[in-house]
Amino acid sequence: MMRKALACLGLAVLALSPGVGPVARGETNRGINKAGKQIFVVSCAGCHPGGGNVIQHNLPVIASPKLSDFDTFDRFIRKPTERDGSRGLMPAFPTSRLTEAQSRELYDYVAGKFKKH
Ligand code: HEC
Repeated sequence: MMRKALACLGLAVLALSPGVGPVARGETNRGINKAGKQIFVVSCAGCHPGGGNVIQHNLPVIASPKLSDFDTFDRFIRKPTERDGSRGLMPAFPTSRLTEAQSRELYDYVAGKFKKH
């Protein structure tokens, strides 16, 4: 039991290490992007459980215009702002915290789950 939990933890850590992520593109086509989900759970879900927003209820991830395409999303998480362009409460995610590859995995997951269709 314990050993299984540890193995799981090891996998999670692996998945988060830059350059090691299971960048199995094909996985995206089969549904949930697991690497992206893991990043979301670790880095975003604290403030955005279920795609909501516990700090600012009126700016959830769900149906956000920032999910329209990858570039818009990437620009936003690198330097998050309020809708009026002012600095808000969301922490920035520079490439030192989230590589471009990780940002893409994250976008795949988040857009697949929360983008307005
Ligand atoms: C410490 C809390 C916190 C964390 C962690 C956080 N956010 Fe946010 N997020 C916010 C707040 C607060 C806002 C509202 C805008 C602002 O104040 O900066 C927001 C807004 C957003 C929006 C909507 C913006 C809009 O204008 O529609 C998206 C999309 C988003 N966050 C994605 C993410 C992603 C993806 C992550 C993880 C990489 C993340 N957030 C991590 C607090 C957080």
